[in-house]
Amino acid sequence: MKNKNFAAVYPGSFDPPTNGHLDIIRRASHLFPNVIVAITENSAKNHMFPLAERVKLMKESVKRIPNVKVVSFEGLLADYLAKTGSFVLIRGLRAISDFEYEFQMALMNRQLNKKIETVFLMPDQAYTFLSSSMVKEIAALGGNTKNFVPLCVEKKLKKQLTINKLQITIKR
Ligand code: COA
Repeated sequence: MKNKNFAAVYPGSFDPPTNGHLDIIRRASHLFPNVIVAITENSAKNHMFPLAERVKLMKESVKRIPNVKVVSFEGLLADYLAKTGSFVLIRGLRAISDFEYEFQMALMNRQLNKKIETVFLMPDQAYTFLSSSMVKEIAALGGNTKNFVPLCVEKKLKKQLTINKLQITIKR
């Protein structure tokens, strides 16, 4: 890539970031001069962590990857891309089951802005089964999330679940 300022955008809700997301970010950081991890609300989901917290966790998780920046955005992804002038989207494909949704989203984003190209990267096979919801469920049921998330996320999950338990006890 000739233009050193060129950035590819990796969007998601990252609630919370997992090692699978980091695997995609690392791969993208080798392919593109800059990677912008763009975090937003997903209106279809009830997030465990507020947006600012997810940004903080992602920043901490990628702090050793020099060409990665973490931002948050509101509204349509296509509008955010137009604002930043970056038209390459990174998406992870974990399994065939991801394909239909990703295909639909890539074509819809292209419909919204013809300049948008989506590049699909496959995570290491160790992460093909991973999702943020699964990590939250494991943590909520007292399981060990150490192998699935960065250390800062593991700590945050433990803290959050202690708070949740305390709140339930107080309500009783
Ligand atoms: N490793 C581990 N988990 C992964 C992964 C990977 N490599 N890739 C995806 N996942 C997980 C995510 O953690 C997420 O898990 P969850 O459902 O348990 O939270 C799940 O797979 C789905 O991920 P994704 O499709 O990226 O959903 P998302 O909520 O993270 O991101 C947006 C979706 C935010 C990109 C999309 O809703 C969007 O663009 N919103 C902006 C509004 C907009 O423009 N809408 C029109 C889009 S056409």
